[in-house]
Amino acid sequence: MIYLDNAATTLPKPPEVIDAMVRAMSTLGNASRGGHAAALAASRTVYGARCKIAELFGCPRPDHVVFTCNATEALDTAILGGIPAGSHVVSTDLEHNSVLRPLHRLEDEGKITLDLVPAGRDGRIDPDAFARLLRPGTGAVVCTHASNVTGDAVDIARIGALTRERGILFIVDAAQSAGHLPIDMERMGIDILCFTGHKGLMGPQGTGGLCLREGVEVAPWKEGGSGIRSYLRRQPEELPDRLEAGTLNVHGIAGLSAALDLLLDQGVEAATARERALARRSGEEASRIRGVTVYGDLSREDRVPIVSLNVGDLSSGEVADALDRVYGIAVRPGAHCAPRIHRALGTVERGAVRFSFSRSNT
Ligand code: ALA
Repeated sequence: MIYLDNAATTLPKPPEVIDAMVRAMSTLGNASRGGHAAALAASRTVYGARCKIAELFGCPRPDHVVFTCNATEALDTAILGGIPAGSHVVSTDLEHNSVLRPLHRLEDEGKITLDLVPAGRDGRIDPDAFARLLRPGTGAVVCTHASNVTGDAVDIARIGALTRERGILFIVDAAQSAGHLPIDMERMGIDILCFTGHKGLMGPQGTGGLCLREGVEVAPWKEGGSGIRSYLRRQPEELPDRLEAGTLNVHGIAGLSAALDLLLDQGVEAATARERALARRSGEEASRIRGVTVYGDLSREDRVPIVSLNVGDLSSGEVADALDRVYGIAVRPGAHCAPRIHRALGTVERGAVRFSFSRSNT
């Protein structure tokens, strides 16, 4: 099987990740709950992973790295708990439903008003459009770092400069960029970075999180055991415990930690050179085939290794099924949970066939 569905989840996971998880399941207790060796080993594993995430993303403090079970949970936490009621919010047509749906919920509940930066027929947004939409009363900007449909990246640093200048909360969805593109929260002006562990970072499913800049307030939507301050009526104030009610996925975090070692040892640029070259070459070759339409701007450097296309007037599902059955090539067709960019590209009816690469591809 040729696996080209890495934007859904990377496969296979590195052996180091698998080994770390297997070891964790026979050695680690519950992090931050108890003082025996197995509990302490779990706490150290989690703290080690926080430090590595902070280093990778330029998060100022490891205790501002909060673990969740996926990017969706991280985005829900940031959007539902971090955006002040009564705010005007700016987001984009590029977003995944994990951003659009919590924003629409707040909009429907009358808690925010929302403007979306439109994508053109090329599936791209104009970063200058943000400046035109910001106004007094804009409380937050929520933006993906890279489209999960076209692979094109957004100039996050440029938007971050605008939001920082105006004191607007800037939430970035790095689900598709973490592990594929360099990220530096400080340099890019990011207040809350939401990531998943199981895509470009090459960790297991069930891991993800959010990184908070100093001074950013997020109210928990999830309440319960924290392992500290058990006599308080409500969640403690301290991060990360405030936003991590319940037992963490320590086995998954152990795997993620091993995956982070691999990435930090090599550095993101070097680790991703081959996947970038493979995606570019595949996209360029596919564009030369008569009847094939490739979406996204393959000439740009700032993109993640995704190539989406359609073949003649076939539905993306038919093409994906044939690729799987006849050639053993795994891809993802359809709408990719990103409705508005498909509207912009004119692909609502048939979706697109998405080929997505990782460090495992040759
Ligand atoms: N959000 C993931 C994708 O784009 C699952 O495929």
